[in-house]
Amino acid sequence: MKMKIQKILVLILVLIAITAQAGDEDKRQVITITELQREHVLEEMRALLSGIQKILTSLASEDMAAVAQHARSLGMHMTHKAEDHLKGALPKEFMQLGMSVHRDFDQIAMDAASLKDSKHTLQQLSDSMKKCVACHASYQIRSAQQTSQSNQNSHLHEHQ
Ligand code: HEC
Repeated sequence: MKMKIQKILVLILVLIAITAQAGDEDKRQVITITELQREHVLEEMRALLSGIQKILTSLASEDMAAVAQHARSLGMHMTHKAEDHLKGALPKEFMQLGMSVHRDFDQIAMDAASLKDSKHTLQQLSDSMKKCVACHASYQIRSAQQTSQSNQNSHLHEHQ
């Protein structure tokens, strides 16, 4: 009887280990672009993060004019710089999701300036950031260079 329980426990542990491994697997779709384009996208991402941090600081001190200003800098005008550079390089759905985030920030800026309601802004921010979360769950970006390197590596593994 004792043996049976031990066996069952071992089986459960093995199952947990297998499921944990399966969960760790990176299932995000890989977007392959040039190294320069990748740097450009990641730079924009970091600008989004630091802009949101500034918006939160301004919200905490109820400085709605500053909120509007920081939100506007993350709006559609932010995308013009990137347009030529990234034209056609990114999947359509990716671009659409990205653009809708910038549109959200224009709306956040307008509402912050007119309504001056920090709770409303927080709600908008939270809603819009669901798009950050959703996109990050779906995609990863590699440069063409990185991809060919990892292909070479897996090639080597096959022959070992
Ligand atoms: C349309 C898709 C998409 C949206 C929307 C999006 N991101 Fe990203 N973001 C990505 C991808 C793809 C990466 C790279 C992930 C990887 O390769 O592992 C990334 C990376 C980042 C990084 C890391 C940058 C670095 O230097 O490595 C930050 C920070 C970031 N995003 C912040 C944000 C924030 C904040 C938002 C929302 C306001 C946001 N992102 C919205 C796709 C998106």
